[in-house]
Amino acid sequence: MRMLQREGLPMPPPHNLVFGHLILAANIQKSLPADAHGHYLADQIRQRYPSLGPTFYVDRWPFSEPMLMVTDPDVVAQSSTADHLLPKHPGIKTFLYPITEGYDLNCLDGETWKFWRRLFNPGFSARHMQTLVSTIVEEVAVFCDELRQRVEEEKMFSFEEHTLSVSIDIIGRVAFPWISALLHQRQWAAFGLEMGIWMLINPMRYFYMWNNRRIMDKYIDRDLDERYTTRQADAKSKTIVDLALADYKSEKGSSLDKGPMDAVFRKFTRSQMKVFIFAGHDAASTTMCYCWLLLSRNPQAMAKIRAEHDAVLGSDRDKAAAALSENPALLNRLTYTLAVIKETLRLFPVVSAARGGLKDFVLTDAQGQRFPTEDCLVWAVHHGIHNNPLWWPRVDEFVPERFLPDEERAEELRPRKHAWRPSKLKIVLALTVRDFDLEEAFTEWDRVNKPKGVKTVNGERAYQICDGSIQLESSHPVDGFPVRLFAR
Ligand code: HEM
Repeated sequence: MRMLQREGLPMPPPHNLVFGHLILAANIQKSLPADAHGHYLADQIRQRYPSLGPTFYVDRWPFSEPMLMVTDPDVVAQSSTADHLLPKHPGIKTFLYPITEGYDLNCLDGETWKFWRRLFNPGFSARHMQTLVSTIVEEVAVFCDELRQRVEEEKMFSFEEHTLSVSIDIIGRVAFPWISALLHQRQWAAFGLEMGIWMLINPMRYFYMWNNRRIMDKYIDRDLDERYTTRQADAKSKTIVDLALADYKSEKGSSLDKGPMDAVFRKFTRSQMKVFIFAGHDAASTTMCYCWLLLSRNPQAMAKIRAEHDAVLGSDRDKAAAALSENPALLNRLTYTLAVIKETLRLFPVVSAARGGLKDFVLTDAQGQRFPTEDCLVWAVHHGIHNNPLWWPRVDEFVPERFLPDEERAEELRPRKHAWRPSKLKIVLALTVRDFDLEEAFTEWDRVNKPKGVKTVNGERAYQICDGSIQLESSHPVDGFPVRLFAR
């Protein structure tokens, strides 16, 4: 930090000789709810020091190496695009190791990452996704039934509980027994001061982690073997593992159809299956909660999304699921629904990207300012990028129209390149928003639970929290997103 300071590189001014930026961070933390997600820090610094610029260093010694916080789309593009120019931050690997043993896409870099990414890409292609629509529709039907039961109870409840279970069921198709071991493992896998001191020193920690891994591996291996055998018997059945195995076979040129599954393929695939559930269920669930929150606060957008569902899926809501299952291509016509999801992810992004800096790897902004990365944690803070008025007109407003196709959108709302970091989920909204009205119930939750201290971030009560895993990673809505739900 001293070297960076001497070179006059951008950082918030109050830098203490001993405590670095910890005093500043503590002051900011004091103004926020105690459980607020770490990704708010960059935007809070921007608000306090508007002349600082969107890329700056923060000194959190002794808790981490110097942090290079990046909220400039051009600079982000140099550090963490699909090319993965900088390696994943070692903290991510330490965190995921007890779960995936480090063979998953989130931990891999360079050529090994490219190889396995290429193998698993077909499973996430739009074409393959279309073959899964009827399966997802079935899971959403279960979700809707559960919500209807909640409507009848006429009580406040945690919406997130339901979005979490539907995401797990969709991603895993059925809740494999190993999923509960994975979720348990996640609590114990946190590291350093991010986890409670009791968990850190608990002598049972290593036993729990060993046992959870044993359970997960046993069930995943059984599942993989079953799929492998079925695949040999029925060449038409195609899961993401089948697609990857077919490519692996053609890459390696070995006769993998005979004998047991290839050991290297098994090791890496086991890791991917865990990370798909692990990385996917939170992100999708949190996004669903915030889609509903923002739609409930914006009646015009709600009316528009419902009108789109009437137009594309037919006005008889009971036939919408069948219509989607029969013709998954209808999803491509839900452009406003997709815009709602994208705008929700803009305002409440769920994941950031952390990379490890490299010697001689220097990022440069449009003004030519250079940012050395050696020995730094390079953090592309998606919340900071998505909520910065430099990149977004009407930054605080919910304006799905900015993500409509070119011909339907006003020119001034066109998103800047690299300023939005993407992902998508449509079916759940298509099959639920016409059936229910949702009211956020934070006021009621506060009356019942009487929380102490600050409970808003920038005036937002539904702020995002980190659930005990590392602060750089996925976020959740606070207090499980309490709501009241009504049938329409
Ligand atoms: C709303 C939903 C989602 C959002 C917003 C989201 C966001 C992201 C982002 C921003 C990254 C990049 C992180 C980085 O560069 O360090 C990422 C990576 C990843 N996500 Fe998601 N994600 C979502 C859903 C899912 C789902 C459903 C799955 C799996 C079933 C998944 C699996 C992964 C994996 C494996 C990676 C690592 C990819 C790689 O390094 O090649 N995500 N996600």
